[in-house]
Amino acid sequence: MKTSLTTLARRGALGLAFTALAASMAAAQTPGKLKVGLMLPYTGTFASLGTAIENGFRQHVAELGGKIAGREVEYFKVDDESDPSKATDNVNKLIKRDQVDVLVGSVHSGVAMAMAKAAKESGTLLIVPNAGADAVTGAMCAPNIYRSSFSNWQPGYAMGEVMAKKGIKKVVTITWKYAAGDETVRGFKESFEKGGGTVVKELSLPFPNVEFQGLLTEIAAAKPDAVFTFFAGGGAVKFVKDYAAAGLKKTVPLYASGFLTDGTLEAQGADADGLFTALHYADSLDTKRDNSFRLNYAKTYKLQPDVYAVQGYDAAQILSIGLNATKGDATKSADFSAALAKATIDSPRGAFTLSKAHNPVQDFYLRQVGAKENKKVGIASAKLEDPARGCKL
Ligand code: PHB
Repeated sequence: MKTSLTTLARRGALGLAFTALAASMAAAQTPGKLKVGLMLPYTGTFASLGTAIENGFRQHVAELGGKIAGREVEYFKVDDESDPSKATDNVNKLIKRDQVDVLVGSVHSGVAMAMAKAAKESGTLLIVPNAGADAVTGAMCAPNIYRSSFSNWQPGYAMGEVMAKKGIKKVVTITWKYAAGDETVRGFKESFEKGGGTVVKELSLPFPNVEFQGLLTEIAAAKPDAVFTFFAGGGAVKFVKDYAAAGLKKTVPLYASGFLTDGTLEAQGADADGLFTALHYADSLDTKRDNSFRLNYAKTYKLQPDVYAVQGYDAAQILSIGLNATKGDATKSADFSAALAKATIDSPRGAFTLSKAHNPVQDFYLRQVGAKENKKVGIASAKLEDPARGCKL
């Protein structure tokens, strides 16, 4: 029997249609690469913090064989320069141009607020691996917004409890004038004043300025029992050195949120020795989990890890727990958040859970600097949960 040309053409068209259908079914079963948008500072006073976060994140992804929930991870990077005025444009490069599945960032609270706003408006999944802006897991909380780090309120509150218990009465605070500084001091004041202390003076300078001299003179004149501070990165290195050079280290004890001495000890040298700080990580936890994390990190990056590396690592853990529950679909925020509500995150810092607002409920260690390490000397505040003021979830 002769087959007409039209029949052949029909069969050909049918064959093509089947091939296309099979291909699209396969695509549905094996979704494409998971696009991770890293929006971090790679220049400026927080540059080394951004690198540590990325290193930690990549370390966990490598442990998972380069895939999360079966999807190969592909990175898109933006240097946010810790500049809030560029943050909306920067985050839109990742959301609109690169069409990432998940945003990971940032370090600076002002930048993270702009990211949270964009994440809320676009529905893009966001995991904050450092910035403590209280609003991110407070008034701006959302089913698609998570934090692997802390809220600014937490380390401040933990150190206020410790200092009040020590019987310290009169304190001067000094920090950068922006959300992280203001909110850390606010958390500190809340517990310190509840415990009977008084903040006699609140000093500040604009971020990221490091002209501390005039303020150090004011501290010397005020003669407080102690100083409480928040600085981080390059600014923290200079502050600790200037505080010692001004002769204050011997006369007015300096206490801080632990960022003052995290990732900075090589550069601070002996000027940091003996300082007490509170943070959700320390260099001497000596647990099996932390030791293996530290060994791997040091082998891979030829660097010692710090709190930022841990937060990056745990951002990848949160992403993996959530996406395993949604079969790799980053848009299913209800299932993603249900999985995390039940989860315990096996962090190098110690296991933690996430609050209803998606902020870690975790221990804050009291640490003291010695031999270029932040040594754990006690617990400043156990299982401390941010009050998540303004969050309606
Ligand atoms: C912040 O801006 O929220 C911030 C920056 C650096 C830190 C901690 C918090 O080390």
